Amino acid sequence: MSRLVIISNRVAVPKARGAAGAQGGLAGALNSALKKNGGIWFGWSGGEVDEFTGKIDIQRNDGVTTATLDLATQDIDEYYNGYANSTLWPLFHYRIDLTEYENEFGKGYERVNERFAEAAAPLIEQDDLVWVHDYHLLPLGERLRSRGMKNRIGFFLHTPWPPTRLFVSLPYHERLVRTMLEYDLIGFQTDPWLDSFLHYCRKELGADVDEESGRIVFDGRTTYARAYPIGIDWDHVQSQMNTGEARQAGQRLLASTRHRTAMIGVDRLDYSKGLPERIDGIGRFFDQNPERVRDLVYIQIAPPSREDVDSYQKIRAELEQKTGAINGARSEVDIVPIRYVNKGHSLAELCGFYRASKIGLVTPLRDGMNLVAKEYVAAQDPEDPGVLILSSFAGAAEQLTDAVLVNPHSRDDLSRAIRAALDMPLEERKRRYQAMVKSVREENVQQWTENFTADLAGVGTE
Ligand code: UDP
Ligand code: G6P
Repeated sequence: MSRLVIISNRVAVPKARGAAGAQGGLAGALNSALKKNGGIWFGWSGGEVDEFTGKIDIQRNDGVTTATLDLATQDIDEYYNGYANSTLWPLFHYRIDLTEYENEFGKGYERVNERFAEAAAPLIEQDDLVWVHDYHLLPLGERLRSRGMKNRIGFFLHTPWPPTRLFVSLPYHERLVRTMLEYDLIGFQTDPWLDSFLHYCRKELGADVDEESGRIVFDGRTTYARAYPIGIDWDHVQSQMNTGEARQAGQRLLASTRHRTAMIGVDRLDYSKGLPERIDGIGRFFDQNPERVRDLVYIQIAPPSREDVDSYQKIRAELEQKTGAINGARSEVDIVPIRYVNKGHSLAELCGFYRASKIGLVTPLRDGMNLVAKEYVAAQDPEDPGVLILSSFAGAAEQLTDAVLVNPHSRDDLSRAIRAALDMPLEERKRRYQAMVKSVREENVQQWTENFTADLAGVGTE
């Protein structure tokens, strides 16, 4: 089998910035993929330097070889905080109101993609499969091709792809998508994101698109685009469940909640996660069911994320204000209805918390997939499983159709779902859990890696 070279902005190196729990779904998933396949993982170290040097730090951690670069302050401002997280991230999550279109951001984005290509190219051997990840690096394949690279190069987008009518608000949108068509295979989390991309290629580029196979022919080049829903590392989650750390975390939570039902949310502090809307829904539940304030405690784990970006500072302030208001109105000397924890936790601790919580509340306004939803299901006790409340607008809802699905914008819907979850009989909880756990166990991250890399090696030859 060919060696795998993975290229992504975020690399799960233990010392990297954000690694303490806030690294998000991508880094965890790729770590699992590489442990199995071998190869190299190339990306940003998380480190910042005054002047870019291009020096690569190669390390072997836990069976995975990483090659990382520091970025210059200007690169981080214009590429990471700028184009990636102030332009593409909001736009791809349908938040055109938060999207910033600055010329300098675009230039910084192209510069860093060029720097990544220049630094990564010498590490890539002739038969390697190259797999580029996420919105930070959309043009990277084209930059590698411009160096004469003939390898199979694939790309996977971990976020949604927006509808064409939103996407065309991006200046130079056509240029960006043309660069993407230099990949051999482009993967999306779900069919709706894939459909939006194919629609754009057909309507805006006039490409020849075959929906059935995902084949896109444009300018004499053929690319394939398909959906590959990412999963969790089931075995790893099970092994974490069985650690002392997980047991202790679960006991700590149970001891502190006593006879109340714990309901948990675990999200990077990001506006796409629908946190203020969720708190409003919980507020509505307490307003409509004041006698149940004593029955329920909500625990929100929300590690800070992308703190230099304005919209992230605002969402944090808003969340703190809303949580404070509900706690102010509903607390008693012995009761605080919402616990807001502004720091990250290890997967083992999360597993303990998930299991001790009889309701998992996952209500993003828009999410490529959402791995927390799958981890919550994986961590449940099969004999007494908790209830997953899941936003219909998360990619995960395409697979986890037996969750209690909600519209995250509607307080009444959230309130109703919380009440239904609290009162749900064991039989129904088991039925829903069994349907969901099958998909979470089988459609796991190993399967995802295998499906994508096998297709990348084979597309065009089948
Ligand atoms: N996570 C973690 N510690 C935390 C919070 C989150 O390790 O304190 C992990 C979580 O277990 C999950 C990932 O971060 O694997 C979040 O992935 P998800 O797809 O839900 O959202 P993303 O952050 O990628 O948008
Ligand atoms: C999401 C993105 C990833 C990103 C992660 C954490 O999962 O799809 O690309 O790595 O969030 O965000 P950060 O900005 O800290 O890397």
